[in-house]
Amino acid sequence: MNEPAETAEKTPLEERLIDLIKLKGPITVADYIADALGHPHDGYYMSQTPFGTDGDFTTAPEISQIFGELIGLWLVDAWRGMGAPKDFNLIELGPGRGVLMEDILRAARLRPEFIRGAHLWLLETSGRLRVEQQRRLRGGGLDPMWADEFADIPSAPSLIIANEFFDCLPIHQYQRVKSGWRERLVGLNDSETGLDFVLGKTPPKATIGLPPASESKEGDIAEISFATRDFTAELCNLLTDHGGHALIVDYGHMQSGLGDTLQAVRDHKFWPPLASPGRADLTAHVDFEALGAVAIDHGAVAHGPVSQGLFLERLGLNLRAEMLCKDKPTEQVEKIRSGAYRISAPDQMGEIFKVMSLSGPNLSAPSGFDDL
Ligand SMILES: C[S@@+](CC[C@H](N)C(=O)[O-])C[C@H]1O[C@@H](n2cnc3c(N)ncnc32)[C@H](O)[C@@H]1O
Repeated sequence: MNEPAETAEKTPLEERLIDLIKLKGPITVADYIADALGHPHDGYYMSQTPFGTDGDFTTAPEISQIFGELIGLWLVDAWRGMGAPKDFNLIELGPGRGVLMEDILRAARLRPEFIRGAHLWLLETSGRLRVEQQRRLRGGGLDPMWADEFADIPSAPSLIIANEFFDCLPIHQYQRVKSGWRERLVGLNDSETGLDFVLGKTPPKATIGLPPASESKEGDIAEISFATRDFTAELCNLLTDHGGHALIVDYGHMQSGLGDTLQAVRDHKFWPPLASPGRADLTAHVDFEALGAVAIDHGAVAHGPVSQGLFLERLGLNLRAEMLCKDKPTEQVEKIRSGAYRISAPDQMGEIFKVMSLSGPNLSAPSGFDDL
């Protein structure tokens, strides 16, 4: 952490949150995240430049074109496994600058029937990023349509891709105290000049799915994302009723567990999560076990998760990297190889990032998951 919350500059959103909390009391961590990322005027994705060296962080498709190209081929293969429908939705959740979709479409153009049948839908909350997506995808072979809500996308067989989307969805946090669990809330510090974590006074409902008190100790933090549960349920209803696959790539854990995973990043460095809301990116690890359980409850099939490194290797990462290196100058060869290394090596993004497929019933396992 580089600067404590009290000494960082106060953002307009922080001022408003302080006033709101003074008036109405502490808010949930989920409401705090939703505002910090998605406030229509001051939210992080509405007002900042998140990506690249000038931004706060970088993502796998921004590092190497191979990531999107392999996923493009994965999507074509999954489409074939669905019986190559003549009309289907190709949906990206949280497309950022559109780099991933640009690479996907370049690879998928190898099968013109895939492109002819696809209706491209982008679910994007940020107006600024929509403009960038439109610019980048011009000439890519498909005219994108934008959706504000997942429910706005017409019902049809669907192929869905989400890279680093679920980690943006709000989480609730709970802290174990002597007598059981209490919700961890965002309130004010003692001088009422800044935000600070406080605890709710009453126990949360017993039905929300917290671990038993006997399996935790005082001070432990548990996280539940109701937003992820609801979103996954909606997505799986579409896959169950109309067929298709969703490929979810994110950092997170294979098995549900305890721990505080809320983190903020600014200028490629960790930042205190309650400092400068709206100016730093906020994320939490995705609980893949919980995601798979929701899928199964809604009649879908969950494949994986597998680590991103293993998944990309199974799809042919090394072969594609060597193909790209052919006849290229040394400097470019080094760039291609280092990009491939960064997205796949266990000490880079290869292990912490996981890949899971949620699929409609009666479909064969998609590639990368076939022997699981
Ligand atoms: C970390 S970026 C990932 C970008 C891209 N997938 C990539 O790999 O480069 C998160 C993306 O999700 C979008 N986003 C975040 N929360 C959203 C929400 N609730 N609804 C729609 N889009 C959202 C952001 O605006 C951004 O485009």
